[in-house]
Amino acid sequence: MGNITWNFKGKVVVITGSATGIGRGTALQFAKAGADLALCDFNFEEVSRTAEKCQALTSGKVKAYKMNVTDVDEINAAKEAILKDFGTVDVLFSNAGIASKVMGPPLENIPDSDWESTFAVNTLGMVKVCRAFASIFREKKAGKVILTSSIASWTSTPRTMPYSASKIATISFAQAFSIEMGEYNVNVNVICPGFVYTNIYSDGTALKYREAIGGPLKQFNDNESVMNFMASAGSSLHRPQTVDDMAYTVMFLSSDEASEITGSVINVDSGFVKRV
Ligand SMILES: NC(=O)c1ccc[n+]([C@@H]2O[C@H](COP(=O)([O-])OP(=O)(O)OC[C@H]3O[C@@H](n4cnc5c(N)ncnc54)[C@H](O)[C@@H]3O)[C@@H](O)[C@H]2O)c1
Repeated sequence: MGNITWNFKGKVVVITGSATGIGRGTALQFAKAGADLALCDFNFEEVSRTAEKCQALTSGKVKAYKMNVTDVDEINAAKEAILKDFGTVDVLFSNAGIASKVMGPPLENIPDSDWESTFAVNTLGMVKVCRAFASIFREKKAGKVILTSSIASWTSTPRTMPYSASKIATISFAQAFSIEMGEYNVNVNVICPGFVYTNIYSDGTALKYREAIGGPLKQFNDNESVMNFMASAGSSLHRPQTVDDMAYTVMFLSSDEASEITGSVINVDSGFVKRV
């Protein structure tokens, strides 16, 4: 039991990348807070499961939508369906993202396809989703937009080059977008998660780090232990974060109480990034 009682009754919240991980965890917390939820993902089967889990927690309306954030037609079709089903949107959490597949160095090892797919989802996907929903917020002169970047924006290494570059580009976009949307009383902010054990690591990415970095990581044989060690060794609080840590930050940024925060970038990383 925390100190804050969240109440999003009557608020329509759109979340991309809500089939699993941070998106699903945030959807569940918004559901507990009574929000109406439009849950979007290209994995329709899993996002429908998220919707079922959320519906069990709220009397609010919850629906799942198929949306590949690289596909403008799918984004627009989902947006139209959401408007038809809910009438409006109050909060957009643009969160869908992927890890790049190939780690450098050297730079020559990373194929164009990896740069292109990483930017297509992590940067252009965010731009396309924000662009599709912007007119809703402009017309009502209200709204909260939160984008998921990463602390990899600040901690770029040759191993994370495409991912880090795509995530810092997202921050730059969001800050420019926040200035544009300020004219319409719309807040645009960014969260930078540190280390949260989700599919983004469990698909083998953490073990790739073990191979690339070596050293003390060699003692760990599974994705979660590798990720936990990286988070614990590097952060001031010596621990990884949870999907709920991200959800609470997103909920705060979506609340009336955060109305004077815009263009901000919040690291939720147990103090991994020491200085920006
Ligand atoms: N887990 C971490 O430690 C961490 C750290 C920093 C940033 N992030 C960021 O957090 C966000 C969520 O990641 P996560 O950790 O929950 O991982 P995840 O893999 O569990 O979630 C990513 C979600 O995005 C969806 N997705 C991927 N490509 C898509 C596309 N083209 N169209 C629509 N949906 C798509 C996936 O189906 C999934 O539901 C991502 O943007 C990621 O880069 C995560």
